[in-house]
Amino acid sequence: MHVVPLIEQKRNGEALAPDDWSSLVRAYTAGHIPDYQMAALLMAVYLNGMAPGELAALTDAMLRSGASLHAGDGRPPRVDKHSTGGVGDKVSIVLAPMVAACGVTVPMMSGRGLGHTGGTLDKLESIPGFRTDLTLAAARRQLDRIGCALIGQTAEIAPADQKLYALRDATATVESTPLIAASIMSKKLAEGLTGLVLDIKRGSGAFLPDLEDELELARTMINLGEERGCPTVALVTAMDRPLGYACGNALETAEAVRVLQGTGPPDVLEVALRLGVEMLLLAGVEQEASRARATLEHAISSGSAIAKFADIVEAQGGNPALAEDPGLLPQAPLVETYEASSDGYVTEVAPRVIGKAVVALGGGRHRKEDDIDAAVGFVIETKPGDRVHRGQPLASMFVREASQTATARAALNTAIHLASDPTVEPLPLISHRVTKQGVESLD
Ligand code: URA
Repeated sequence: MHVVPLIEQKRNGEALAPDDWSSLVRAYTAGHIPDYQMAALLMAVYLNGMAPGELAALTDAMLRSGASLHAGDGRPPRVDKHSTGGVGDKVSIVLAPMVAACGVTVPMMSGRGLGHTGGTLDKLESIPGFRTDLTLAAARRQLDRIGCALIGQTAEIAPADQKLYALRDATATVESTPLIAASIMSKKLAEGLTGLVLDIKRGSGAFLPDLEDELELARTMINLGEERGCPTVALVTAMDRPLGYACGNALETAEAVRVLQGTGPPDVLEVALRLGVEMLLLAGVEQEASRARATLEHAISSGSAIAKFADIVEAQGGNPALAEDPGLLPQAPLVETYEASSDGYVTEVAPRVIGKAVVALGGGRHRKEDDIDAAVGFVIETKPGDRVHRGQPLASMFVREASQTATARAALNTAIHLASDPTVEPLPLISHRVTKQGVESLD
């Protein structure tokens, strides 16, 4: 296949034909197009966007690049959620077992860390022995048996996204509406869902920080889902500060376990409950939001959600005792406290700075083949609007070597702003609900 003319065409702002996209995805997935040519094409898309017909063709080609987990595997209803990516976002690890405990099959296919954001697969793999690369047959068996599997793209399922996702992460081509939409929707539609809930992150830590761009991304993905027979709903949630306290793979997994135990940070629980309500409504398990919320809260208080998590961990090769004792996760050898340098109000905890610092400490990748250090990161218990006193501990830094403490401290100095007045209004935790009917403001 002659790729250079297609790169030229896209570079010059012209649309490629749907058949060209199908051939490109097929050839790249089969290893017949080198990464450098695909990277050039992705950059041309990043700079020039895609026409709707191109996006539909790219999504369908990525969806068809592997097998599907379709009906017959796992009892319907089959509903999943996906986030557009954030910092401290461990919601999937809470939501999947919680919703599965309420009788919905959740075939959750997630991603690795991307850019400054963390990835659910990397967080889960901080659990010693936990495997996210299940075969299609193993994923199907697990869905039938326990109603939930937490998996990644593999050579069998969504292989095109597996390769493109890793390439985008290493070539600064993540922040593109069509590339995000095709990546998310191709793998989600490969799950054979009866409904999908999207968590669209908004604010400085999101890939597309402007609300209008986020709403456009939501509408684009909802159209792709609905046109392919998958009812799709989106909530817009705050990413102008990290979600919860923990940022870093094992730290976030431990925090997700605490949410499932009923003792986690309230913002993580609230986002999980609100997304869970949408999942139960789409599944038809509940007809009213208030009843759906009560069902989910009962899954936490009765212990059925954490028990489901233990089943999943055991089924995927980890130690289920972790559900009782998150201390079994890898621990960083050095933990240092970061204190407030003055009296005042916290006006910002910049998520992008924190996310990049986790990567710099080794918790994310610079190149797609890099290994990551699961134990490093931050626990930042302060939030914008808090009043603090000089010397008050605001965060803990988890590092492997003493030499990394300076990097971690510098990041916190840049990320955490203190002022004498509480000048900044944090974004509402959940601000909009988007459906095929339109956008509803929840403020
Ligand atoms: N999540 C994905 O799966 N893909 C993206 O491109 C961004 C977030």
